[in-house]
Amino acid sequence: MKNQLLLVFLSFFSISSMLNAQSLELPEPEKTGGLPLMEALNQRSSSRDFSSEELTRQQLSNLCWAAWGYNRKEFKKRTAPSSMNKQEMELYVVLKNGAYLYNAEKHQLDLIKKGDLRSYCGSQDFVSIAPVNFVYVANMKKAGVNKPEEISPAQIATSHANTGFIAQNTYLACASEGLICVVRAWIDKEAFAKALELSPLHKVILAHTIGHAK
Ligand SMILES: Cc1cc2nc3c(=O)[nH]c(=O)nc-3n(C[C@H](O)[C@H](O)[C@H](O)COP(=O)(O)O)c2cc1C
Repeated sequence: MKNQLLLVFLSFFSISSMLNAQSLELPEPEKTGGLPLMEALNQRSSSRDFSSEELTRQQLSNLCWAAWGYNRKEFKKRTAPSSMNKQEMELYVVLKNGAYLYNAEKHQLDLIKKGDLRSYCGSQDFVSIAPVNFVYVANMKKAGVNKPEEISPAQIATSHANTGFIAQNTYLACASEGLICVVRAWIDKEAFAKALELSPLHKVILAHTIGHAK
């Protein structure tokens, strides 16, 4: 009996360490410095002429944190506001090697699906060339909705508004990092949700392509 318990414990331990191995650790975000706000605003723009050059892990960390990280961790509050503080938005980070969900609590990327899924982020040609696509997804369960048929147009509109704040954070962080980006409504939302096996309570709102200028 003792041996059996030990076996169960050991297999649980190895499964959880395997799962951990599938998350992508991010360095601490750089919360000071960067471009002064007024200069970042002056440089914010949409560009579509991407090279395939990868971002550094530090840049990825800074962008995720700026977009939707905790800036008051003790209160679980974030860099962007959300209506009634429901924080239903989820940040999916689609890289060449897999699609991840940004985990603000641990400031890491949790693997959702392995492989290059960038083509599911949009059909404009640059989408699969750029190294990073953010996809902003509303998890309506977090907004208090329990059934897909109960998702109201008002809630969808609210999630779009919440996404606008996050996307602008991303724009400004890209300007600060010397990166280019473009936010996009042109994404096959159902195809993306299917590729990542998201639940019917997940609603894709916007995508955001990020990378270096050619
Ligand atoms: C809600 C929204 C959806 C957008 N969708 C797309 C898109 O699907 N594809 C694209 O190339 N640009 C898209 N854009 C970027 C706009 O074309 C761009 O912001 C606009 O031309 C103004 O340029 P600027 O961002 O450089 O000021 C979108 C912008 C917003 C705010």
